[in-house]
Amino acid sequence: MNSSIPVITIDGPTASGKGTVAHLVAQHFGFHVLDSGCLYRLTALSALRRAAPLNDEHAIAKLGEHLQCHFSGTHVFLGNEDVTAAIRAEEVGNTASRIAALPMVRHALYGLQQSFRKAPGLVADGRDMGTVIFPHARLKVFLTASVEARAQRRYKQLIDKGFSASMQDLSKDLAERDARDMNRASAPLKPATDAHLLDTSGMSAEEAVAQVIGWYLAL
Ligand code: DC
Repeated sequence: MNSSIPVITIDGPTASGKGTVAHLVAQHFGFHVLDSGCLYRLTALSALRRAAPLNDEHAIAKLGEHLQCHFSGTHVFLGNEDVTAAIRAEEVGNTASRIAALPMVRHALYGLQQSFRKAPGLVADGRDMGTVIFPHARLKVFLTASVEARAQRRYKQLIDKGFSASMQDLSKDLAERDARDMNRASAPLKPATDAHLLDTSGMSAEEAVAQVIGWYLAL
């Protein structure tokens, strides 16, 4: 039974540092990683490419259910195409946030997310990892950071990847995406009641990682 395989969940809003912290914690323990946002982004990219109406819950859920994706190191493939950069575009992130509010889409991606739980362990990052997908995780962490700190991080990420960006637009998009992720009826972004809260606004990634590793080792 894979229910004995340890899971660490790291939830939080966009650009709170979840992805970086999850990868470094996984590396430390030799665990697998689930970037659940990536699955919503892949579904969004499929929908955008097919010009599927974003309010057609059935059609979008079907795309999620039949996602032909695979992962190779840090690269993500949709079919045979390397979409690692394409899924990070702001339009894809915003579309992912919209379709993630549809319960059938969340349901369609449930099994795929569970399948990442493999020995020797998993670090899962997202919005509902500790509340819905892995409610019995061994350690649950909820990362927060101010909108300003997160907009700064997102700005740097986009510029480093060669995209253009404006701080003002990013702050506005982040605030809108936060509101949508937190206020949706289905699996809204919120800390699990047994989650450890960590505000990373003034913290380096290394400090956040050390704190998460410390919590896990103290269990
Ligand atoms: O973490 P991210 O920015 O890559 O996620 C993109 C969108 O996907 C995010 O705005 C909300 C949605 N999402 C979700 O609803 N549940 C998850 N577990 C992960 C992401």
